[in-house]
Amino acid sequence: MIKIQHISRIYQNGTTKTSALKDIDFKIKPNEVTIILGPSGSGKSTTLNILGGMDRPTSGQIFYDDRVISNESDKALTDYRRKIVGFVFQFYNLVSNLTVRENIEIAAKLTNNNQDRVNQLIQKVGLENRQDNFPDQLSGGEMQRVAIARALAKEPALLLCDEPTGALDSKTSQRIFQLLKDSCSPKTAVVIVTHNSEVAPIGNKVVHIKDGKISEITNNPHPIAVSEVNWS
Ligand SMILES: Nc1ncnc2c1ncn2[C@@H]1O[C@H](COP(=O)(O)OP(=O)(O)O)[C@@H](O)[C@H]1O
Ligand SMILES: [Mg+2]
Repeated sequence: MIKIQHISRIYQNGTTKTSALKDIDFKIKPNEVTIILGPSGSGKSTTLNILGGMDRPTSGQIFYDDRVISNESDKALTDYRRKIVGFVFQFYNLVSNLTVRENIEIAAKLTNNNQDRVNQLIQKVGLENRQDNFPDQLSGGEMQRVAIARALAKEPALLLCDEPTGALDSKTSQRIFQLLKDSCSPKTAVVIVTHNSEVAPIGNKVVHIKDGKISEITNNPHPIAVSEVNWS
């Protein structure tokens, strides 16, 4: 379980200060899909980067079980990113000179180096026939499926996805969201950032964010199926 408490983040560029997050509070649980919903510039990526240990809050705390991540050393934070967090970005961020299989294997090597799991994941995302291809030989949807398999290779407790279908068409988006939802388990909490309110009802919890503040948190005891989303 992850708890973020009174998180604020101020970016300072020269004399200009941007208050990107203002006193944010929420919890993330395993076996739940949490959707962070808000318009562009509202602070979604900042929140996700802090959750993923890629950035630190200006004030406030992040708890991961008994650990207080926000107080840890850079070394401990690196360990958290390696072992606990899987990250899926809008533009995939694959290593362009490694094949599909190799992109997934390097992530597995950071933790368990479990080849069986690498094989299972390649199957799960439906890329058996593409595993020796390089990223620039794939479609956007295929690249995102590699990125998801890579994020899952280390069996993350926290799967963080920043606008994962922002560059994809609706049919492909549906497949990606299904994979993300299926990745949620008693061991893995899934957090998806989106500006698309149509997607929100697939989540168990929706954190609405606006101008760096949480405007509402809704719990959703009956999430809709991904196939019911109106992608219009
Ligand atoms: N590195 C940065 N330096 C200065 N301002 C930033 C930086 N990153 C984000 N911001 C600002 O913080 C606010 C929130 O940004 P962000 O978290 O990227 O929003 P979102 O992901 O919801 O579009 C915006 O006003 C943005 O311009
Ligand atoms: Mg963003």
